[in-house]
Amino acid sequence: MADLSADLGFRTLKNPVIAASGTFGYGEEFLPFYDLDVLGAIVMKGIFREERPGNPPPRLHETPAGLLNSIGLAGPGSAALQEIIRRLHARTPVPIIVNVCGGDDDEFVEVAALFSGMDEVAMLELNISCPNVKKGGACPAQDAGHTSRLVKRVKERIRKPLIVKLSPNAADIVGVAQAAQDAGADALSLVNTFLGLAVDLEARRPVFANVYAGLSGPAVKPLALRLVREVCLKAYVPVIGIGGIASGRDALDYILVGASAVQVGTVNFYDPAGAARIVTEIEAEMERLKIRDLSEIRGKLQA
Ligand SMILES: Cc1cc2nc3c(=O)[nH]c(=O)nc-3n(C[C@H](O)[C@H](O)[C@H](O)COP(=O)(O)O)c2cc1C
Repeated sequence: MADLSADLGFRTLKNPVIAASGTFGYGEEFLPFYDLDVLGAIVMKGIFREERPGNPPPRLHETPAGLLNSIGLAGPGSAALQEIIRRLHARTPVPIIVNVCGGDDDEFVEVAALFSGMDEVAMLELNISCPNVKKGGACPAQDAGHTSRLVKRVKERIRKPLIVKLSPNAADIVGVAQAAQDAGADALSLVNTFLGLAVDLEARRPVFANVYAGLSGPAVKPLALRLVREVCLKAYVPVIGIGGIASGRDALDYILVGASAVQVGTVNFYDPAGAARIVTEIEAEMERLKIRDLSEIRGKLQA
């Protein structure tokens, strides 16, 4: 039997497959499909202090092997999410990760502190790709100095492990990764969506009201895998690989370049039981390749 456990240092997950933020609702939506406890963990859709309506439709647009989204981080607000988490935790022991958002640094810190106080929450993931309302839409993930200041402030206020989620749209993602870990991040997750553009030729207009949107799905996997490898070469904290994972082999590719775990996103939209399937496929591939545990291949890419 292959050992699928994924060691994050501060916590060991039963397997490396984590449902990615924004693609798995608040967990409850997937209970009809399978027992969520077969996953390593799940990440809640990103949350701000107050309820947010998000962007006007259209919010999703399919591309070849990809998905563009411009959801605008719609959500019910922190108090409502606390209720949802209590309800979900009563139904499944799967570790719950809260994806913390903020329109400015104070809000990030406040939301993180709130969820850090919940026993039902296993860890926090800081979504530093949120546009900063006070800084003309710039997000902390674009700037190493901003990331460092924010991570330090959040770490001072929380008692849970902190994952910092990086953006592939940063000019220097490795520099931002180093700033995040030096500031106290317990793990790094990458990547969030790639900024893209779709246009409506007939209407001579962009498809989305916000013009640009975030690209995810199998189309981004080679781009994301490169970034994960580059960050892994410099990281001394565990790295969680994200981007276009649709099979057990995709997941193992990320482990091979150095990731300790993975998150799976867009696949949940077209295959609601996809994350659970990926766990089964990882096990089958490990048996086939005679890999006893993930540490045997983690970071073992020969290049
Ligand atoms: C519709 C949609 C909503 C998303 N919402 C969030 C979010 O709230 N917070 C976040 O950190 N990432 C969010 N993401 C990014 C995903 O968690 C993930 O990083 C990205 O989609 C790449 O993985 P994938 O190719 O497996 O989907 C969202 C992605 C999609 C497609």
